[in-house]
Amino acid sequence: MNESRTVAAAATGTLLVAAATLWLLGSRWVRQSPAGHGGGGGDGVQGAAAAAENKAKVQRVKRSVKNGLVGLIGNTPLIKIRSLSDATGCEILGKAEFLNPGGSVKDRVAVKIIQEALQNGTLRVGGLITEGSAGSTGVSLAMVASAYGCKCHVVLPDDAAIEKAQNLEALGATVERVRPVSITHKDHFVNIARRRATDAETLRLRNSQVTQLKGLQENRGGFFADQFENLANFRAHYEGTGPEIWQQTGGNMHAFVAAAGTGGTIAGVSCFLKDQDSGVKCYLIDPPGSSLFNRVTRGVMYTREEAEGKRLKNPFDTITEGIGINRLTENFKLAQLDGAFRGTDKEAVEMSRFLLREDGLFVGSSSAMNCVGAVRVARQLGPGHTIVTILCDSGARHLSKFHNPKYLAEHGLTPFATGLEFLVPQ
Ligand SMILES: Cc1ncc(COP(=O)(O)O)c(C=O)c1O
Ligand SMILES: *[C@@H]1O[C@H](CO)[C@@H](O)[C@H](O)[C@H]1NC(C)=O
Repeated sequence: MNESRTVAAAATGTLLVAAATLWLLGSRWVRQSPAGHGGGGGDGVQGAAAAAENKAKVQRVKRSVKNGLVGLIGNTPLIKIRSLSDATGCEILGKAEFLNPGGSVKDRVAVKIIQEALQNGTLRVGGLITEGSAGSTGVSLAMVASAYGCKCHVVLPDDAAIEKAQNLEALGATVERVRPVSITHKDHFVNIARRRATDAETLRLRNSQVTQLKGLQENRGGFFADQFENLANFRAHYEGTGPEIWQQTGGNMHAFVAAAGTGGTIAGVSCFLKDQDSGVKCYLIDPPGSSLFNRVTRGVMYTREEAEGKRLKNPFDTITEGIGINRLTENFKLAQLDGAFRGTDKEAVEMSRFLLREDGLFVGSSSAMNCVGAVRVARQLGPGHTIVTILCDSGARHLSKFHNPKYLAEHGLTPFATGLEFLVPQ
């Protein structure tokens, strides 16, 4: 009831201000029609003058046209997640990376890798970009490669959902599905991707004379994107995501938390934030099967399963995709962390349903895990803190497992919580 009075008062106030402003402008027409509605007729000279003034004003404003696909990447909004903020007494903010045109935070990485490689000459326009990726990076590279006039070849394990290969092909990439083997094996999909780039490059060098002589289309060579080890990944976040977060919070933030796949996000953002204010706390949230938690908390790189000699066949034995790893990447090495938390598959699933129910946010598994991390950090720091995390991609990318009730039931992951009670204290 108070609310309607406030609204009425505000409306009256607005009208008064508008009327007073118009009055001051001294227009005869305004004096006849103080509410400023429905007029417009009868005063052609004033109308034309106003139109001319408006046009001039529009022209004075800086053009805000984005430059193609690449212009759409980054500068994502930072949103307050109301439910988690209310529940913790902290301000919990999510960087809406799912709004990038390729649907994920990896668009930034694709642009940075391709731009740098074109600049330093490792990649030529028309050349072939290769990557081993069953996830978002393949999608981003396929899309961004076209924007730069390059081609894209993605190698993925043949146990990845067939839609992933179909999606990449629809985006114009060529796709190679290979038998899943360990990363140490020469035929691991990442190693095959590297080899395809080397082969294309060898061919370019060998053929350049011949093609020139015969007037054939020149072979433009190949380039391995290598998101895990390529520090362009780190730089995409150190120069993009990090500064954007700092600017969007006006530097008023206490902590950042994220899970790591390649580690590019957590390393780039944590380094940038610490450079601005070393008091900003940065934390890792780690999914099951990953050894990064132990690395951060104890400086050792093995999982409990490994220590007990019963390491699972698939080290990424978790429903969360794109996060968790059992090797130390060049990107992750640069992360500046104050601590780490663990999150379970169950918690990620419950969190995603909570966010959907309470906030209408439909997110993927890594985003849900990041939000689990945000609540853990909020509980550790106590009320009154501002905590930032990343909403990496949308739930629409996860319909076959994470957002599939049948799959969840088969894996004992059916969500049933009504609040945040599923978050067990650690
Ligand atoms: C959907 C999704 N979320 C999060 C991540 C993790 O980000 P980063 O590789 O920067 O650690 C990835 C990376 O593969 C991803 O695909
Ligand atoms: C050029 O840039 C690419 C992309 O970041 C990188 O992978 C490559 O190592 C760089 N090469 C040189 C010679 O600097």
